[in-house]
Amino acid sequence: MSGKTSRRESTEVVVIGAGPAGLTLANLLRQAGVECVVLERQSRPYVEQRQRAGILDHHGARVFEEWGLADTVLAGMPQETRFEFRVDGEQRFLDVSAITEGRSGRLVPQQVLVGRLLARLLESGGDLRFEAAEVTPHGVGGAAPTVTYRDAEGRTHEIACSYVAGCDGHHGVSRAGVPAHALTTYSHDYGIGWLTVLADVPPPGFPLMAITAHGFAAHFPRGPRASRFYLQCAPDATAADWPDERIWAQLRLRLADKDLPDGPIGEKAFVEMRSHVVDPMRYGRLFLVGDAAHIITPMGGKGMNLAVADADVLARALRAAVREGDEEPLAAYSATCLERVWQHQEFSRWMTEMTHEAGDESLAGPFRRRLARARLDRLFTSGPAARAFGDMMAGG
Ligand code: APR
Repeated sequence: MSGKTSRRESTEVVVIGAGPAGLTLANLLRQAGVECVVLERQSRPYVEQRQRAGILDHHGARVFEEWGLADTVLAGMPQETRFEFRVDGEQRFLDVSAITEGRSGRLVPQQVLVGRLLARLLESGGDLRFEAAEVTPHGVGGAAPTVTYRDAEGRTHEIACSYVAGCDGHHGVSRAGVPAHALTTYSHDYGIGWLTVLADVPPPGFPLMAITAHGFAAHFPRGPRASRFYLQCAPDATAADWPDERIWAQLRLRLADKDLPDGPIGEKAFVEMRSHVVDPMRYGRLFLVGDAAHIITPMGGKGMNLAVADADVLARALRAAVREGDEEPLAAYSATCLERVWQHQEFSRWMTEMTHEAGDESLAGPFRRRLARARLDRLFTSGPAARAFGDMMAGG
């Protein structure tokens, strides 16, 4: 190692990344009495302010309840009960709580979840290090891995550990360091563009998805005074194509709400509508968690929930390995997670195709449009079809 001063230490698990996956895992490991160090590239304010997902599904909420963290994470977070599908201006509601016998989720803005998990980890004496540069896992294929990094003062560190959890997102170093032949990657591009906008306007009564010939649009709550909107757009659209006036005009048109108030737009971004899954989610003593292993479109709101679900499976498996010397749950980690991941990839694909093709005929033609409409109508005329939807919204 080069650098000013080298420091050598050891722990059971090094967690790389402090997004929803890394912070959930680190908190669960603390609950399990398994020592870990979390290394995050960004600063604390950056991590706390990053806004993305907004729904914790029923399964995700259960994870925090089962680990005794419900008070930390769920306190004051409203239940997600109903969803609205607005089809060419006609309102249709699905009550997920009713059709799943109470398995509703919670409306939890990601930055609230992250802020609470971060505070809890630090208050309980957790070891979380921000602004860790050049984080690099070494020797994960062998028996004695280490992770090196450089801190904000330029000092280099080396941490010896038993396991490494790669929770560093789609562009992180963990997966990038695995030999290509050891992983199979499955990718899919939906060929659709999505523009997303965070704005200071009142949230809708219920999460709302609009299906129209002008394209798909959605309006979701982000706390008591803010909203996230999504607008289907050309896959190669740029910010110059979407000035604020066009955004509000298209939202009013697609949501069939000429009185929709506008407000300051805090963030305008394009979402890549694609999926990506690696198999296995493990290489030796390195375990990939959340976006490091799989990305999914925002349709269905499953990105954050899959990260929480992976963290739950890995925390249980690491507890068995570290505290009881039983490595069997770790051996099953990848297969257990991938089963859920593929179920949710399929749900997201089903919903993406249905909500886009049922409106915009230019995507797949008039025949597919009628098929998508039939699929959509069935949700409101068939109890079993509605329950299948509700089951996946609840987390399967
Ligand atoms: N070293 C250390 N930290 C890193 C590195 C690195 N080289 N690269 C990335 N990170 C950090 C990022 O700064 C970020 O804080 O890892 C974290 C990864 O967080 P996310 O990208 O949010 O991934 P994950 O925790 O898996 O989140 C899962 O949450 O917001 C939803 O939909 C979103 O699907 C996503 C889900």
